[in-house]
Amino acid sequence: MTAALSDLVVVSNRLPVDVSPGPDGSLVHGRSPGGLVTALEPVLSQRSGAWVGWPGAPGLTFDPISLDGIWSVPVPLSPHEISNYYEGFSNATLWPLYHDVITRPEYHREWHEAYRTVNAKFAEAAAGAVAKGGTVWVHDYQLQLVPSMVKQLRPDVKVGFFNHIPFPPEALFAQLPWRREILMGLLGADLIGFQRAQDAGNFRSCVRRLTGLTTRGHHVLVRESDGSVRDVMCSAFPISIDSAAVDSRARLPRVQARAREIRSELGNPDRILFGVDRLDYTKGISHRLKAYEELLREGRLHVPGVVMVQVASPSRDNVSAYQSLRDDVETTVGRIAGDFGSLGSPAIHYLHQNQDADEMAALYLAADVMLVTALRDGMNLVAKEYVASRVDGRGALVLSEFTGAADELRQAILVNPHDIDGLKGSILRAVAMNPKEQRRRMQALRRRVIENDVSAWATSFLGALADR
Ligand code: F6P
Repeated sequence: MTAALSDLVVVSNRLPVDVSPGPDGSLVHGRSPGGLVTALEPVLSQRSGAWVGWPGAPGLTFDPISLDGIWSVPVPLSPHEISNYYEGFSNATLWPLYHDVITRPEYHREWHEAYRTVNAKFAEAAAGAVAKGGTVWVHDYQLQLVPSMVKQLRPDVKVGFFNHIPFPPEALFAQLPWRREILMGLLGADLIGFQRAQDAGNFRSCVRRLTGLTTRGHHVLVRESDGSVRDVMCSAFPISIDSAAVDSRARLPRVQARAREIRSELGNPDRILFGVDRLDYTKGISHRLKAYEELLREGRLHVPGVVMVQVASPSRDNVSAYQSLRDDVETTVGRIAGDFGSLGSPAIHYLHQNQDADEMAALYLAADVMLVTALRDGMNLVAKEYVASRVDGRGALVLSEFTGAADELRQAILVNPHDIDGLKGSILRAVAMNPKEQRRRMQALRRRVIENDVSAWATSFLGALADR
């Protein structure tokens, strides 16, 4: 089958497909679950759109295929490109730079070269998939040069860009040797969306200071080579989740039964503390474990009354900062387990594995206290999933003020995860929260997450882009 040209083309680093060999040796493709897919699948299937992205394994490619009414267009990457563009420039240069330099960003010219080459491959694939006068929506920090590249190849199309992670303040962004190229790459878009107003403000001040272009309110005025001026809008569009789907899953009898089963498998403790994150140094897992360990050591929490479950999904394990983080987290988990558990009553359960959607929903329902202690996070959809799952109006959310979600989820217990004493106090407050207060807070949180769901987010971004 040949892919038809699409009115709406989404471009992201990963293509949301699962590719595995079928019984006859051919490749079998299915949709893979994930935050961004959940976010965009409904919009794309309504508009018979296309998705351009890397299939997720070295050298892997296939002809464009239609899955659930969406064309999947692969951009194959060689092992060298994966190492220099994905693990290198995207995840060892930009990722730490955009997350408050929690670890030191590395600047290597050959990584940057690969980033530029790979961005050009994505831009060509998008330009070849979009219909005349259509829309290309580019996602995230791995692809910041794509907007201007697509605009050059296809001046007839509208280009939107959404940054899922924070955008750093000028004092940090200025470190990047290729800072002007990145800014000009993004400014190829007609609309640039950020998670928080703060990120959009950081971007506009970087543009003013580092390119000499002028800004007016939320707009940047870009002077084109023919002397004309193009207006690029840069604003906040906080992303969300498919709240209704998460809510419905949590109401399923099999999920509710599994939540009860989890509680009993954990020994029916008074309080289950729960964390679930990609195993990433931005998530503050070590800070959370430190607070828990100190509370146990000081006798302010006791096993088996309390138990912690930490799910850490494997991530970017060829990048050295992620390898050291894994060592640190697993050393601390081992110490907590060894010092405070007993046979049949562990102090902590640690799973370095992905969980399926039903199991996640059951864990959210079983968790009395949800710990989201990120040191910096564009949004944090886990916080929103927890709230949407609490169809019983119970549970307490401890939420880092350094997440985008903290702008919206004001009824959570907001914490500064760097302040370990403050974090300990907040954990104790959440553990002790009475059902009436849990309900009051959870009702307000749920109202927000249900009103502002992912389809409202996509509609508002695409609506603003159509108006450009
Ligand atoms: O939003 C951050 C992000 O990097 C997304 O672009 C990506 O889908 C997700 O985190 C997972 O990261 P990775 O694709 O590197 O495993």
